[in-house]
Amino acid sequence: MKTNEIYNLAINKGIEADFRGREGVEKLLKRRKEKFEKLSEGEKKEFDLESLENPYSDSRILNIAEDKEIKKVLVGIDIEPAEILLAKEIGNIDLIIAHHPLGKSLANLSEVMELQCDILNQYGVPINIAEGLMKERIEEVARGVNKLNHQRTVDTAKLLNFNLINLHTPCDNLAAKFLKDLIEKENPERLEDLMKILKEIPEYKKAMEFGAGPRLFVGSEENRCGRIAITEITGGTEGSPKLYEKMAVAGIGTVVGMHISEEHKKEAEAANINVVIAGHMSSDSLGMNLFLDELEKQGIEIIPCSGFIRISRNK
Ligand SMILES: [Fe+2]
Repeated sequence: MKTNEIYNLAINKGIEADFRGREGVEKLLKRRKEKFEKLSEGEKKEFDLESLENPYSDSRILNIAEDKEIKKVLVGIDIEPAEILLAKEIGNIDLIIAHHPLGKSLANLSEVMELQCDILNQYGVPINIAEGLMKERIEEVARGVNKLNHQRTVDTAKLLNFNLINLHTPCDNLAAKFLKDLIEKENPERLEDLMKILKEIPEYKKAMEFGAGPRLFVGSEENRCGRIAITEITGGTEGSPKLYEKMAVAGIGTVVGMHISEEHKKEAEAANINVVIAGHMSSDSLGMNLFLDELEKQGIEIIPCSGFIRISRNK
């Protein structure tokens, strides 16, 4: 497989696992195309054409130094210049895959967050409330990433001639779908039962060894879970803290997330929503693994680095 085939496979897998369904994603792309057609020539020139085919603004091919057959990949959660140098040291790395956004996909991270509106709506939050509160938060994230040094790692990859891509929301979609299916199948009654289920997942089991296993951030083990929502695994980054109150009204009892800020935790507490934090690097690893198994099946060697816990489900 070549870099663009690997990338396209990831986008396709991400759409397959998307909570909006393939149909929902296609509807969104169709709408984007219609809006694009109406733009002036000048506006069209500025438009990110890839966003017409790819619904995930936070996942991109960042550099193709040599369009070759990929046999060995270095995969990390955060790829920084140090990891590019590491790839050089290791040798024979054909492609570097980052999870977290870099370059253009970091600059455009906020655009993928609209996915959260649909997920919240599926869990019963009225779409007008989800859209209203998320709009504020999306703009805040857009301003927040604006100041960053987006191209630093991409520049390093260019200087050292490495192929570089990043896969964020497609993989987070895979993790979210995996967790949703498992939790719905097991249907845990209390938080302790939910924690037990999470702790059996190999990525979380491994994370427990170094003190980063699943943790209860709000609520006690004896609490009943109520309706469990997987609203905070995919969709770019944390949503609005004001959403917890609305989620409680919509009938959500417990939220399973990757990470949570203090402000969000306080709001969840005030709304009596239990919060289970599965773990950040481990949840990111879960999503990456579900995709990388496909590459492994094609005979591609995977070298994990930068917090990525590689677990294969290919046996
Ligand atoms: Fe992450």
